[in-house]
Amino acid sequence: LSRAPPLREQTLVLVKPDAVQRRLVGDVIGRFERRGFKLVAMKLLQADRSLLDRHYQHLQQKPFYPALLAYMTSGPLVAMVWEGYNVVRSTRAMVGDTDSAQAAAGTIRGDLSMHVSRNVVHASDSVETASREIGFWFQQNELVAWESGDSQYTY
Ligand code: PPS
Repeated sequence: LSRAPPLREQTLVLVKPDAVQRRLVGDVIGRFERRGFKLVAMKLLQADRSLLDRHYQHLQQKPFYPALLAYMTSGPLVAMVWEGYNVVRSTRAMVGDTDSAQAAAGTIRGDLSMHVSRNVVHASDSVETASREIGFWFQQNELVAWESGDSQYTY
């Protein structure tokens, strides 16, 4: 495994406004850090309607979309890009089922969320989606390339 070429896959994670309000940002970040993924971009921001319309373009016709917009604009959120081997798939597993009631204990939603309408985090669902979503939330020059110089975190 150590001879395998590094796979610099990236994914977008949003720590949603309920999590910021509940002071859960550090808990969420800590989980990705302890897993070994690399943080390459992060910012706290108040999302506006046009950004959310782009991010949730596929959901605009859903009956819950107005509630989702109100939730996602209810306060600042934290947008992050995490990098590493199979990070998209691993992150989705760490986040847990969209429906919090179905999310396994040990996952972010299984541990920290009770309901789909306040489900703490968003994570990209595929490599292609991740690339598009990262572009909605970050300028290319906000992504920082860095090496830890610690072979524990290379693969
Ligand atoms: S769908 O219908 O299958 O496309 O939707 P789903 O994949 O289950 O969810 C997509 C995102 O919509 C959010 N969602 C909701 N938000 C607020 N209220 C309700 N009732 C609701 N139902 C679904 C869900 O959390 C997903 O958000 P992200 O940020 O992508 O995880």
